[in-house]
Amino acid sequence: MLDGEYGPPVEKAMRILVAIGDVYGAPRLIDASSVHISGISYRSAGESGARLVDTFASSGRRFVVPTSSNTIGIDSARWAELGFPSEFVQSQTRILRSYESMKIAPTYTCTPYYSGCLPRSGEHIAWSESAAIVFANSVLGARTNRESNPTAISSALTGKTPLYGYHITENRAGTVLVEARCDFNDSSDYSALGYYVGSRVGSEVPVFLIKKAQPSTDNLKSLGAALATSGEVALFHVIGATPEAMNDESAFQGQKPVDRIRIDEADIRKVLQDLSKDEAGAVDHVIVGCPHASLTELKQVATFLEGKNVHPQVKMWICTSRAVGCIGERAGIVQTIENAGARVVADTCTVNAPAGEMGFKVMATNSTKAAKYCSEIDDLTVFVGSLKQCVQCAIDGEWSGSEQ
Ligand code: F3S
Repeated sequence: MLDGEYGPPVEKAMRILVAIGDVYGAPRLIDASSVHISGISYRSAGESGARLVDTFASSGRRFVVPTSSNTIGIDSARWAELGFPSEFVQSQTRILRSYESMKIAPTYTCTPYYSGCLPRSGEHIAWSESAAIVFANSVLGARTNRESNPTAISSALTGKTPLYGYHITENRAGTVLVEARCDFNDSSDYSALGYYVGSRVGSEVPVFLIKKAQPSTDNLKSLGAALATSGEVALFHVIGATPEAMNDESAFQGQKPVDRIRIDEADIRKVLQDLSKDEAGAVDHVIVGCPHASLTELKQVATFLEGKNVHPQVKMWICTSRAVGCIGERAGIVQTIENAGARVVADTCTVNAPAGEMGFKVMATNSTKAAKYCSEIDDLTVFVGSLKQCVQCAIDGEWSGSEQ
């Protein structure tokens, strides 16, 4: 491959992997059993990203391992109804054609594990998208580094990834002990916990001792996404809940933590307050499903919305994958949500959509990741709180600041 026998795009892909391997001192390449590619959204790819993928696609070579795709910038089926600008849709569609010519799986989600892309514990993979990486490493026990768009494409074209970082057992040991002594009621609490800890630990491997709760899969999804947003965490452990941390000994691989953090209720509340613009105010957009919602989360939203109506000035999006959305539709969950005036939006999210161009100005969410990026990228005013608060806010047309 490196000698060009498989054509210039594969040679380029192999050069990228070898260069990365050299930088990190990898002794060799290993097989990657699956790849997840982010940076597909036109918002993150831009024209330069579109050109890069064209170069890779030009030879007609296909991806050689199962390769899923991250969230894109549009709902590919309902973009017109949801008000996505047609020029943006055209640019996004052009990028998708290149990826599809290489036979990417059109999962278009940051939660590919809810769409059948489920590596097992110990499996070596090459995933990009920080929220998906941290989930795969921590909750599934699979092994991946924080791949970028070019390195993930390179692994998909070659089936290889360099052996370094989180592929090696010793590098997966916990380094910082986090004792959380709070009552966790909702995924937004885990999102706030992750946001707080991520900003303190950078790229360390935090080990959580959660005293008063047993986190669900969705809670761990929120925790990981936030850790990777305010910090660069790619792996965490929760003692008694994640596969490499059945006890302290295994979580730290017998080593002593280099640091210890204690967190109480007040720290969690402060994160949510600091990210929120104000205590109360009118909103025009509510987003739930960052990372993309599971079927359980769709059901929770449907329960809160049943028999209610979303305020006419509010566009409420529950973002999810098309796969989960389809099952939700068959189960009648999507209809309950949409009858109330909210929309189950597939393939995309507010962060990847052209939110400013679509007229959103003040947003409520239960995700610290969505809050951070929407305020930074699109200058939206944000409110952050629990799922119940978000649904109530969509119904009232304003954020009240307290849970009713
Ligand atoms: Fe996923 Fe978009 Fe959030 S890609 S993690 S829903 S910012």
